Formats: sequence, structure tokens, C-alpha cells
Amino acid sequence: MRLDARERLIVALDLPTLKAAEDMVSRLGDSVNFYKIGYQLAFAGGLPFAAGLIAAGKQVFLDLKLHDIGNTVQKGVESVANIGATFLTVHAYPQTMKAAVAGRQGSRLRILAVTVLTSYDDTDLAAAGYDMSVGELAAARAGQARDTGVDGLVCAAEEAANLRGIAGLGMVLVTPGIRPAGSATGDQKRIMTPGRAIEAGADYLVVGRPVLEARDPQATADAIVAEIEQATSA
Ligand code: C5P
Repeated sequence: MRLDARERLIVALDLPTLKAAEDMVSRLGDSVNFYKIGYQLAFAGGLPFAAGLIAAGKQVFLDLKLHDIGNTVQKGVESVANIGATFLTVHAYPQTMKAAVAGRQGSRLRILAVTVLTSYDDTDLAAAGYDMSVGELAAARAGQARDTGVDGLVCAAEEAANLRGIAGLGMVLVTPGIRPAGSATGDQKRIMTPGRAIEAGADYLVVGRPVLEARDPQATADAIVAEIEQATSA
């Protein structure tokens, strides 16, 4: 997939208030065109805010990780599509994914599946009633996502090469856990630099704290875009 380097950077607006989000978007200006809105901001006025960003020409990834009965998921996804978002996450359960794909028909919204939450290990899966390792379940769900017509997967950069083999070239891979060289890792354990993540096969990079907490967020975003550009033209 040929994407402009700047379109590949998604900044996670993990901020507590609309005011903080508005300030950050205005500081980032033309350096960032794609924003992710998750639970924290979505439930603090972030959905009308998302509509405003889209009206201003930005792209929005709503990280709402939906999962419910099929009818409820389908209707919810239709509403998200009406907001004009570009990406929406759902949990990778077959019924949920099928309903989400039906709900996005006729819109530009693309559905991303979360295979297994990265906070889960094999013990957590066993406690939840699964008789499979995280790796096995993630691979099985990635295959189901592909077969259901889901548009992409959220995955750690280190999984990208493996998942690309399952997903093929038709699905987008979106990777969080990105840390430019020298930035704090925070609570992320499986991290990669922007350049290495692109080389590993990521289409889009989600970056939160390294940009939000930078002394100069715009310069940090520009540096990440430059690194993406270098990795894609290598
Ligand atoms: O601040 P940081 O760059 O670690 O933010 C990463 C973003 O990606 C956060 O919004 C986080 O919720 C999200 N994310 C993640 N790991 C996943 C899925 C989503 O870090 N497996």
C-alpha cells in the first residue's frame, strides 16, 4: 500500500478533557492529520469533537473496541460511519466482526480487529476459559478477521511480519507501542522505533505519550514523519 508518510502517523489523543485535546490539535497544526480517540476522551465529549476534526479535514480513528450482540454492533457501527470516522476497533469475535463489516457498508469507515488484548497472557486466557495460547488465539482470530472481510488489525510491531503472512496485503496493520529512539517507554513493554515498525510491515503507527508529553509536540511529530519517510523510501 502506498501511503504518504504523514498519513501513516496517528496521534493518540489520550487526554482527559476537550480543552486539552483542542490545545494539542492546535499545537500540532498541519504536522498531524490523523487522530485516535479512545474511551477517555470519547466519554468526555470526544465524539462531537471527532466530528469537528473530520469537518476540519482530519482523519479520526475511534478506538472503541466494540463487542455486543450482532444487531447492536451493526447499528452502532452505522452511527460511527455517519460521524465520518476512518477507523473503528472491534473485538475479534466472529459475530462481532461480521456485524461490524455489515454496519460499515457503503461508508468510508474501515473496521480494525483487536485479536487478543496485549495485557493478556496465557494465564489470563485460561482464566477466561480459553484452552489456547495467546499466539494461537491471535493467529486464529486474524484468519477469521480476514475471512470476514475486516479491513485491518491492531498489533504490536513485532507481530506485524507474522500477521502479514495471515492477513495478506489487503488488510492494514496498525501498530501502537512506538517509541522514537531516546524517548521514555512508559508502561509499554513491546516497543519499536517508527522506522523499524514500518520496516516490519506496519501501515499506520499510533503514537501517544512521546508526542503528547514532548516539550515540542509538533517537532516530535515532524521527526517521526521524517523517520517514516526514510523507512518507506529505503
Ligand atoms: O502513549 P502511547 O504511545 O503508549 O499510546 C499508545 C496508544 O495505543 C494508547 O492509546 C493505547 O491505548 C493504544 N494501544 C496500545 N496497545 C494496544 C492497543 C492499543 O498501546 N495493544
